[in-house]
Amino acid sequence: MQKVLEDYIRMCYDGFLQGWHERNGGNLTYRMREEEAASCAPLFSQDRHIALPVEVPALKNEYFITTGSGRYMRNVPLAPQENIGIIRIDDDGRGYTILWGLEGGARPTSELPSHLLNHVSRMEATGGKCRVIYHAHPANITALSYTIEPDAKTLSRILWQSETECAVVFPEGVGILDWMIPGGTDIAAESAKLIRKYPAIVWAFHGIFGSGETFDETFGLVHTIEKAAEIYLKAKGAGIIRTISDDQLRILASAFGVRINEDFLN
Ligand code: 13P
Ligand code: ZN
Repeated sequence: MQKVLEDYIRMCYDGFLQGWHERNGGNLTYRMREEEAASCAPLFSQDRHIALPVEVPALKNEYFITTGSGRYMRNVPLAPQENIGIIRIDDDGRGYTILWGLEGGARPTSELPSHLLNHVSRMEATGGKCRVIYHAHPANITALSYTIEPDAKTLSRILWQSETECAVVFPEGVGILDWMIPGGTDIAAESAKLIRKYPAIVWAFHGIFGSGETFDETFGLVHTIEKAAEIYLKAKGAGIIRTISDDQLRILASAFGVRINEDFLN
């Protein structure tokens, strides 16, 4: 099998092993490099065309690997051709063609509008480097969203203070979107606005979207955030009597050569 498909499948299953993908929860899209799409061309055997509810001219002619709507991450390694697929965005950005996979009449994830608009935002934010958008339902970050107002400064400070590495891994902070109906174009537009500023955003009472250049970077980002949330909730339950100070966060950022979001420091 093509390496890019193997790597994609591994990430789907790794998320399942972490417990982030109950039932059909979560979805993953990857913007393929030209040579990766070319390596998969011998697989292309269909041309189902579907219109998009959003316009993404910035993604014209791009190839994506996507999970299927209603499909389970748990089953991806068993039957990739039924649970994931490859699509190509039209040259006017208003629709796409399914070229491989999603067999049995499956469609791409219902969060495809959020994924595609998030890809546009993160491509712009990273000078075209971002290729992965990942949505998961980890329990701790979702639980944490019940304990705070939906405010990026509050959330980012909690996470930075909960594990020393956090400020180095996501010095921009993490955004948070208040509860909205999933699967639509409104949540997609709001997510895309927010993810322009942060590499990851929490959907209150739902889960998280993470982004990155590679599968490792993206998975690692979500893993780091989720673990920090777990530590915070454990510490909060036990009783927090001290934490990492703002000065320590500044020293940490300068020691590791990252620019921490000063707006979130006091
Ligand atoms: P899909 O099965 O359509 O990908 O939806 C799962 C999900 O997590 C919705 O937010
Ligand atoms: Zn979801």
